[in-house]
Amino acid sequence: MAQIDFGGVREEVITSDEFSLEKAREVLKEETVAILGYGVQGPGQALNMRDNGIRVIVGQRENSPSYQRAIDDGFVSGETLFPVEEAARRGTVVQYLLSDAGQVALWPAVKARLNKGDALYFSHGFSIVYKDQTGVIPPDNVDVVLVAPKGSGRTVRTNFLDGSGINSSFAVHQDFTGRARERTLALGIAIGSGYLFPTTFQNEVYSDLTGERGVLMGCLAGVMEAQYTLLRKHGHSPSEAFNETVEELTQSLIRLVAENGMDWMFSNCSTTAQRGALDWAPKFRDAVAPVFADLYHRVTSGAETRRVLDVNSAPDYRQRLQKELDEIHNAEMWKAGAAVRSLRPENR
Ligand SMILES: NC(=O)c1ccc[n+]([C@@H]2O[C@H](COP(=O)([O-])OP(=O)(O)OC[C@H]3O[C@@H](n4cnc5c(N)ncnc54)[C@H](OP(=O)(O)O)[C@@H]3O)[C@@H](O)[C@H]2O)c1
Repeated sequence: MAQIDFGGVREEVITSDEFSLEKAREVLKEETVAILGYGVQGPGQALNMRDNGIRVIVGQRENSPSYQRAIDDGFVSGETLFPVEEAARRGTVVQYLLSDAGQVALWPAVKARLNKGDALYFSHGFSIVYKDQTGVIPPDNVDVVLVAPKGSGRTVRTNFLDGSGINSSFAVHQDFTGRARERTLALGIAIGSGYLFPTTFQNEVYSDLTGERGVLMGCLAGVMEAQYTLLRKHGHSPSEAFNETVEELTQSLIRLVAENGMDWMFSNCSTTAQRGALDWAPKFRDAVAPVFADLYHRVTSGAETRRVLDVNSAPDYRQRLQKELDEIHNAEMWKAGAAVRSLRPENR
């Protein structure tokens, strides 16, 4: 492990310098890694591991577009592609990458097929931490581990192909074999993590649920809409409102933050923009702080996961979701966005 100073706090991290891909291959050489679920994370992790020389099989329900996708990606029915239950039986590492609601539904079938000494792997602390809601309580005679990429499964794959990686947290919840940590790190390196940092199942799920509801998606979508609506109310054109709200952020400013941090972005914009942004940042921080406090409380109390399981387990879940997404797609703001994107030089 390397010790890195994160703003004055020293933390341990693992990169391929500390735990090489060769070592990961050695640790996993006798293992069959069964990826259960070929949705978003499943393909990214399965393909990266397969390319890294790990023995990978996929478990995916048949009669689903995801099953066909696994075939298109080179998995072969009856050889490396099976129904979920059969893959669970064959795997010595069982990567439970069904949707979190799907994990609840399939748990009795998966649990019945775990063998002594298997590693049960998650990419989210959800099922284990909220066991009172999910009923996912693993048997004592398996390792229970987590590697949680901090990015979409799509970028787990595209970053791997680009030669970069997505950072992941890792945790061991139960070490039956005495090899749980070594297995976890090997799997984290094999899926192509940029660097690995330690967490617990609980800290992973609390921070992840907060982040995606907050700055990463929920808060971002909310504040964008608020600003766009305000500008439109005051007579600004859709093109102007969208450019000042979304396009400039995604095409320019956030890239500068990614490259060198917030202060560098502030020092590389106009002095007018800089003064105003520095003055207004604390006002926004203080305005949203109570909303974040409410969010974190709802996460830790289990209210957020209860809602996820209720809504996502409904039989008409996909239709209702589609209706919500269509409303966003058809809103003026995002139609304006489509027009703006079509005008980017590379899209013309
Ligand atoms: N999405 C991400 O980028 C991301 C990032 C970090 C961590 N994670 C975690 O990774 C795990 C997988 O997430 P995901 O986003 O990849 O999930 P997802 O895209 O929603 O994938 C769902 C998978 O589960 C299957 N499934 C769902 N319900 C099922 C059921 N009742 N019976 C059988 N199969 C069912 C789906 O099959 P069908 O296609 O046939 O419906 C699909 O293969 C979760 O724990 C998630 O929190 C995800």
